[in-house]
Amino acid sequence: MTKEKLSKTTISLHWIVAFAMLVIMAMGIYMHETETFALYPIHKSLGFVALFVILARIAWRMKEGWPEDASDSAEWQKKAARAVHWILITGTALFPVSGLMMSVAGGNGLAVFGMELIARNPNPDNPAKALPLNETLAGLGHVVHNALVPIMVLAIVLHILGAVKHHLVDKDVTVSRMLGK
Ligand code: HEM
Ligand code: HEM
Repeated sequence: MTKEKLSKTTISLHWIVAFAMLVIMAMGIYMHETETFALYPIHKSLGFVALFVILARIAWRMKEGWPEDASDSAEWQKKAARAVHWILITGTALFPVSGLMMSVAGGNGLAVFGMELIARNPNPDNPAKALPLNETLAGLGHVVHNALVPIMVLAIVLHILGAVKHHLVDKDVTVSRMLGK
């Protein structure tokens, strides 16, 4: 990794995770707003699979550190960009972890593309409903999963605006090196 070039691993992991996050977030918001329950199992499966790539990305970041700044922006801009990167990378992990907490601790189990990994815990009084294993953990997962939505939407908007500013105003290599050019 140099100022002009980023490693293939950094580039691939960035775009795979970015694409996955945008798709899974959009799906989550859509299914929640429109109560399209048929999408829930697909959302959970995609989020669970994405977690493995997300963890690989975090391990890679911990090993390599953050990419060196490509240009000499104002100090506050560099700090703001770094803060947004921290929010984004933390959010990528917190989304699936809180989702798992809400589903598994809520007694709904976990099935990945139809393959049951953790069995559902049916409520004997009302088999249509699940019996929570730990209501506190499930509640915490729900609060975190929902709270992440505005935080991550704002962070992604700022992140994209920053990328556009680097490309069009500063005319530096920030975006092109993330595209592998
Ligand atoms: C990268 C991973 C994930 C992302 C980006 C993500 C994102 C989202 C978003 C944006 C929503 C809509 C929330 C709202 O509008 O208030 C949502 C809802 C939901 N997610 Fe996830 N999610 C991920 C992983 C998971 C996982 C792994 C599970 C469970 C195993 C899960 C379970 C749920 C459930 C059950 C809802 C609906 C909550 C409700 O209707 O109140 N998510 N998710
Ligand atoms: C179209 C959307 C996106 C564009 C154009 C974009 C662009 C970029 C660029 C140009 C960089 C390099 C910044 C630098 O060199 O300092 C970068 C880094 C980064 N981006 Fe994005 N990005 C997008 C979406 C996302 C999304 C959705 C996430 C996560 C939710 C994300 C998370 C990160 C993180 C954590 C970094 C720091 C370096 C790394 O860990 O790879 N990006 N992005």
